[in-house]
Amino acid sequence: MNLMQDLKPEHILATDKDWWRGAVIYQIYPRSFQDSNHDGIGDLAGIIHRLGHVAELGVDAIWISPFFRSPMLDFGYDVSDYRDVDPMFGSLGDFDALISRAHELGLRVLIDLVLSHSSNQHPWFHESQTSRDNPKSDWYVWADAKPDGSPPNNWLSIFGGSAWEWSGDRMQYYLHNFLKEQPDLNLHNADVQDELLSVARFWLDRGVDGFRLDTINFYFHDPELRDNPALAPELRNATIAPEVNPYNWQEHLYDKNHPANLEFLRRFRALLDEYPAATSVGEVGDAQRGMEIQAQYTSGGDKVHMCYSFEFLSGILPTAERVAEVLADYEDKIGDGWACWAFSNHDVVRHASRWNLGEDARRLYAALLLSLRGSVCLYQGEELGLTEAYVSYEDLQDPYGIRFWPKFKGRDGCRTPMPWISDNQNGGFSDAKPWLPMAMEHLQRAVGAQDGAEDSTLAFYRRMIGFRQAWAPLSKGALSDLRAAEGIVSFVRSHGDQRLFCAFNLTNTARPAALPAGHWRQDRGAPFTAIEDDRGGCVALPPYQAYFAAAESA
Ligand code: BGC
Repeated sequence: MNLMQDLKPEHILATDKDWWRGAVIYQIYPRSFQDSNHDGIGDLAGIIHRLGHVAELGVDAIWISPFFRSPMLDFGYDVSDYRDVDPMFGSLGDFDALISRAHELGLRVLIDLVLSHSSNQHPWFHESQTSRDNPKSDWYVWADAKPDGSPPNNWLSIFGGSAWEWSGDRMQYYLHNFLKEQPDLNLHNADVQDELLSVARFWLDRGVDGFRLDTINFYFHDPELRDNPALAPELRNATIAPEVNPYNWQEHLYDKNHPANLEFLRRFRALLDEYPAATSVGEVGDAQRGMEIQAQYTSGGDKVHMCYSFEFLSGILPTAERVAEVLADYEDKIGDGWACWAFSNHDVVRHASRWNLGEDARRLYAALLLSLRGSVCLYQGEELGLTEAYVSYEDLQDPYGIRFWPKFKGRDGCRTPMPWISDNQNGGFSDAKPWLPMAMEHLQRAVGAQDGAEDSTLAFYRRMIGFRQAWAPLSKGALSDLRAAEGIVSFVRSHGDQRLFCAFNLTNTARPAALPAGHWRQDRGAPFTAIEDDRGGCVALPPYQAYFAAAESA
């Protein structure tokens, strides 16, 4: 591929306001992408160095996990200065250089704003905790103990234990939905909202194209601090760590999803709309009502553009029936809203391991992901077919894993460094000892080892992304004729007068796929086996193969 020929001119980047619909977004976890200053931790200059790889994939945008100043207890999701780059990752100058290089390559840049909570090392929290009447006393969620000294209610932290931590300075508890070092900001306070909006403006003015908004449904809590009701055991389900964490034994009615959030999201959107083509994708974690909340937050064109969906991030294997069930629920509830789908990210076991997928199945699931109605996030290394890495207790970094080892090993196994070349023990990621070990089994899948090999997973991803980009029905079109039968999930995507039938055999045996009425011709642009077109209304799909066929006019 000739990168220079394929560059999109910068003015196209600026004017297509709707670019995010159906976009493919590549998530970069900066600590683990590329080290440039020999400290074993990735950084912004490292990202710049490797952007060519991302551009060659043919994606539309990157999402960079947090790089702001932070004590790094949750590896950047605990921010102590929202307007600066942590020296570990570089400087604001490096960030500016990253934006301009990305834009030159036709890539938009989304950054990860963590507005629900800050670090306990943020000066706002230092001030807030000094007394009950300082100017920032109400910037976090403080509450008195119950008469017996115990926490104000039964709310739980996602990382285990009570969501309340005691402060002797104020003789009060403060709320934290995650680590106790991540106190929850009080967005019921208008000054806090104004300040967070001005943080967003700061980065928009620096040229970012939008935001991934961390834990967007945790922004507001119930001011009455009512207890969450218990959930019947058969209704408990969770994406992360159900085996060690009772978080989802409750119905989270009061600690998140508060309706006041809608008004704040409108304020946020009004700010984004001042910029030519800024977008937003809000992370919605809710095991019970995820889809309804996504619909609420993205409908009407006046709140966030997309919600990051958890439906395919759990251990439940997406069989044909399960995929159809999720998509039917989505079509039923989403209205004019929009999802952003993902199979892997920096919080969950890589899906190749989570679903125990062999090589062919990995490719097939990639094709399915890239055929969904909505936008798509790919996580670094997914394009190489990486599996979850084993990280020994001595090397563990994630406090979540350290707490629950060995029943739950935390999130380090999906955060190990990107393998760039195979003939180097650190995979070309760093010439110092990496902050998490390079997984030896990842070396054979390094970018350098796959680049140029026509039959590699990397080549497959490039072709499949290109296929999605070439077919407007896949990126922008409606979805109909959804069907799951005999291990095959199929649907039709349509846009204007184009219709594309898509079928996926999610099993390891050959199965028949029924075509909808009409005449269909296989599109050979997708990286799958050529199949004899069958006018009898059915094609035989080999194991883990997809079939894409365009409607022919009669
Ligand atoms: C991020 C996690 C983080 C948490 C708290 C999330 O959902 O993706 O990595 O630990 O928010 O900020």
